[in-house]
Amino acid sequence: MRAGTGKPIVGKHEEQASPKHVAIIMDGNGRWAQARGKPRLFGHHAGAQRVREIVKACPELGVRYLTIFAFSTENWKRTQAEVSGLMKLFRRYMMDEARALISSGVRIRFIGDRIKLDETLVALMDELELLTCDNDVVHLTVALNYGGRDEVARATKRLCREVKAGRIDPESVDGETLARFLDTYVLPDPDLVIRTSGEARISNFLLWQSAYSEYVFVDTLWPDFTREELEQVLATFSTRERRFGTVPG
Ligand code: IPE
Ligand code: IPE
Ligand code: MG
Repeated sequence: MRAGTGKPIVGKHEEQASPKHVAIIMDGNGRWAQARGKPRLFGHHAGAQRVREIVKACPELGVRYLTIFAFSTENWKRTQAEVSGLMKLFRRYMMDEARALISSGVRIRFIGDRIKLDETLVALMDELELLTCDNDVVHLTVALNYGGRDEVARATKRLCREVKAGRIDPESVDGETLARFLDTYVLPDPDLVIRTSGEARISNFLLWQSAYSEYVFVDTLWPDFTREELEQVLATFSTRERRFGTVPG
């Protein structure tokens, strides 16, 4: 309520339909493990199990695009043991999940810089993208060695090459031109970004693409994030009024 007037601060507005694209910063695996007296990798394994449940729930809840943050360009700063454990987990997960992803109609894509990733992992990523390229039930994008600033810098580099080669007039460059060079060029912008574990920051995730996304921060640690909690977050999203800079009429 607006103080003294008895009027609600936000006027009546239409309920939002289900978000078409949900992006998740899956945070809190380490703390989840520590709370159980286990090594951090134990939490990452538990977190990977959650991904399965959430991917399955998406088409049932009307979400066509799901993008998940698995490893950031800054996560290399962790101990060598944690980084190599995570890389091994990604390889194992991709091998174990391949068949289920293909048969359940999931189209998988990866965003992020592949240059620093192990060859065998990159080969698996390429294979999964190819094997699922005709799927259309849900589009799962995994951000691996992804950083929003790094992505914009790499996109700018490619754009500059096109300008240098005379294929793009620098005077014609606008936001849409740059967006075509981003890793996400085929994806719609996320409508909703969720971060688990109580941290209220972006940590370099989808900086460009989330310009007008709704954010929901939840305290739950990622390995405890269930389908029911996703449904609650979607209910919160449905009450938000998105304005995109306009004045509500
Ligand atoms: C998120 O969980 C997973 C990755 C960053 C790979 P964290 O590992 O960041 O868990 P906390 O934040 O330390 O609890
Ligand atoms: C963001 O989480 C990256 C992923 C979830 C993969 P972090 O745990 O790395 O972020 P900070 O360090 O708390 O900002
Ligand atoms: Mg974290």
